[in-house]
Amino acid sequence: MDSFRYKDGTLYAEGVPVRKIVEDVGTPAYVYSRETFLDHYTKIDKAFAEVPHLICYSVKANSCLAVLAVLNEAGAGFDVVSGGELVRVQKIGGDMKQVVFAGVGKTDEELAQALRAGILMFNVESEAELENIDRIAGQLKADGEIREPARVALRVNPDVDPKTHAYITTGKKENKFGVDLERASRILQEAGRFPNVRVAGIHAHIGSQITEVKPYQESLGKVVKFIQEHRRKEVPIQYLNSGGGFGIWYQDRKAQPASKYAEVIVPLVKDSGCTLVLEPGRFISGNSGIMLTKIVYVKESAGKRFLIVDAGMNDLVRPSLYGAFHEIWPLDAEALPPTRGGGPAEGAAYTQSDIVGPICESGDFLAKDRALPKGLGRGDVLAVYSAGAYGYVMAGNYNTRPFLPEVMVRGDKHYVVNRRQTVEELLEREKVPQELL
Ligand SMILES: Cc1ncc(COP(=O)(O)O)c(C=O)c1O
Repeated sequence: MDSFRYKDGTLYAEGVPVRKIVEDVGTPAYVYSRETFLDHYTKIDKAFAEVPHLICYSVKANSCLAVLAVLNEAGAGFDVVSGGELVRVQKIGGDMKQVVFAGVGKTDEELAQALRAGILMFNVESEAELENIDRIAGQLKADGEIREPARVALRVNPDVDPKTHAYITTGKKENKFGVDLERASRILQEAGRFPNVRVAGIHAHIGSQITEVKPYQESLGKVVKFIQEHRRKEVPIQYLNSGGGFGIWYQDRKAQPASKYAEVIVPLVKDSGCTLVLEPGRFISGNSGIMLTKIVYVKESAGKRFLIVDAGMNDLVRPSLYGAFHEIWPLDAEALPPTRGGGPAEGAAYTQSDIVGPICESGDFLAKDRALPKGLGRGDVLAVYSAGAYGYVMAGNYNTRPFLPEVMVRGDKHYVVNRRQTVEELLEREKVPQELL
């Protein structure tokens, strides 16, 4: 569910007519609903209430400070993948004891930064990384900068197919993530080699936008068996981190409510005797945001109809990168979108169009052959739904296009939480030394 609804033929974000936001910040722009973030966070929290758990919101999905601050207020921890994301969490006053740090390529600087900050643990992806963490923690300890050993969760690759897009599949043996269970077992047995590290957990993130519960059952089944075997050998594994990956509705309403994932995960967590760590990103932020874009031109060519809009693949890359589907519907429309209680309204006329951006790449599109109400034209504003996750965070400045503003709505008020970048700001770090000319 989300809080973007049509009333009297116009779209509202919570209690604010979206038209009002367009008047304030223009287009293209991202708009977020505070209530929706909190609703999705709470759904997960309630679904897993039966077991001790920590929800570490995956900052990569939407790292806007206002989003992090709202989730922090609700009690969330955070999953970060870079020194930059860690600074974001520090900036909003996040509790470092609720922060996990993931990623295959953490640098020495990032490891030291996180150790000094006192995060809960690293998700470790390889033996080489474990050795490096041990070395850096040893140095910091010798220098009196830290006292405790570094806590880590070993990321295992359970070789399970999560049945999602290949680019966001991470738990199959051919993927670059984690270590296989056999190697993980060897690492645990040799953990004494790393005196400045304490292996406190096992981590298994198998992919993103997973809309079935079975892959979790399969993967965590293997992980829990592994934990039980190693408990017996007295390896004190305290945390079971199931990663993120819960899918959302983009098009076909196939995704599951949090309670369905909990139905299969909770019994396994009980068997493991561990505290569960969850790293949801998309589930919390995906449906909490929309992107607004204005039609600049309508073009008919070789029997095709193109709506050329002012947002490009640099602003929202998911359709170009993954062939992702985003529901798109005009702000002002008599008929509701098909997935919002709509379905073509009686008597309303529709046409098929490609919705494309202004960038000189054929891959620059938001939708292909999309049925939209007839009569849309220059100046009409479209809402691109489910753009709250992997939207703004994946944006770039290609074609020297500035970053979009981000707006958060609470009740009947909206707040610009990140203003539109100017071209001057975009060029700020560049210089042309005379010596080059
Ligand atoms: C280790 C890890 N945890 C959590 C996530 C968040 O995934 P999602 O947004 O699908 O919940 C990702 C995303 O790729 C990830 O790599």
